[in-house]
Amino acid sequence: MLEIKDNIFWVGIKDWELRRFHGHELSTHRGSSYNSYLIKDKKTVLVDTVWDPYQEEFAEMLEKEVGLGHIDMIVINHMEPDHGGSLGHILSKIPETPIYCTKNGMETIRGHFHRDWNFNIVKTGDCVNIGSYDLVFVEMQMIHWPDSLLTYVKGANVVLSNDAFGQHYSAQSLFNDEVDACELYQEAEKYYANILTPFSALVKKKIEQIKGLSLPIEMIAPSHGVIWRDNPMQIVDRYYEWSQDYHEGNAVIVYDTMYEATKSMAQAIGRGLEKKNVKYKLFNCGKTDDSDLITELFKAKGIILGSCTVNNTMLHSVGGLVERMKGLRFKNKVAAGFGSYGWSGEAPALISRKLEEAGLTIVMDPIKVKYRPTAEDLGRCEEFGSGFAEKMR
Ligand code: FEO
Repeated sequence: MLEIKDNIFWVGIKDWELRRFHGHELSTHRGSSYNSYLIKDKKTVLVDTVWDPYQEEFAEMLEKEVGLGHIDMIVINHMEPDHGGSLGHILSKIPETPIYCTKNGMETIRGHFHRDWNFNIVKTGDCVNIGSYDLVFVEMQMIHWPDSLLTYVKGANVVLSNDAFGQHYSAQSLFNDEVDACELYQEAEKYYANILTPFSALVKKKIEQIKGLSLPIEMIAPSHGVIWRDNPMQIVDRYYEWSQDYHEGNAVIVYDTMYEATKSMAQAIGRGLEKKNVKYKLFNCGKTDDSDLITELFKAKGIILGSCTVNNTMLHSVGGLVERMKGLRFKNKVAAGFGSYGWSGEAPALISRKLEEAGLTIVMDPIKVKYRPTAEDLGRCEEFGSGFAEKMR
């Protein structure tokens, strides 16, 4: 238990070993943390819990630090199991404790635990006095679940933002001014790219709404990673940028290859981009961490995706990636497909169609090369890259 601000304590769990999250979907190279907070005012308030594999450790800590019987109310900002998962275990010991959550939160809690408890539904602007502080609630619907909620501790001027502004980052310190800023931003951006991109329009509107309230904000304490104590609005400003069809102007070439023909096409396309002074990065998606790759695609203006043809389609690493891009609903990006083939050669056109379905703007007809590229073929690939560069302007 660590006091983060006057009578507000971090009571979370640091998960140093976590390497995949959301099942196996997301990589977490630097672990994560499940940040729960305890406010000791006239009322003692628990805000969020931790992932249920840690529920016993969590309950024991609370028992030791405050005594579970002294908790007067529980706020559940979000019932995804990494935050609400220990609620059932805690309530098995203190079943009458009032739970404050959104209406969707109540339904989600019921859906997870199949139990009815002492629910108190809150909406945006609702306020609960807990002594010297007031808790003010702001609904964060679809940022990133229907139940999501933000709790503002008025008086302490602390935002308990749950997933928003978080990072899968387990560090020795809990504060942004005491960790490596480069690591912190890598993780914050990866979190946004992989989890929040589909909801960017809502993120933008919500930030405008919150800024419009002119609340004094001295600290933003998310439910993963470190707390923004030094210049907390820096991460809000970054989110505002990321929420507006963000890109950094560069291209990313992604491919998978069987006998390096598609790889040599990718390299030639890169040379074509370079001739036109477009910066690019090159990845074999069969060998690259998929969540890191999504972060690179999030930052790109142009995406060129290639695969050789196998069994009349693209390699599965490329198919999986483009399906993931479809779910993330990237905006304001241009794209094209390419690939080598031996006889039927469907992959480049299929990739192009899938990229279009994913919401990207196709700016070049797909290019394909039969068997191993000749010098002439590679020249065509270079021209393709240069042509793509022109379309990026
Ligand atoms: Fe960190 Fe949406 O759970």
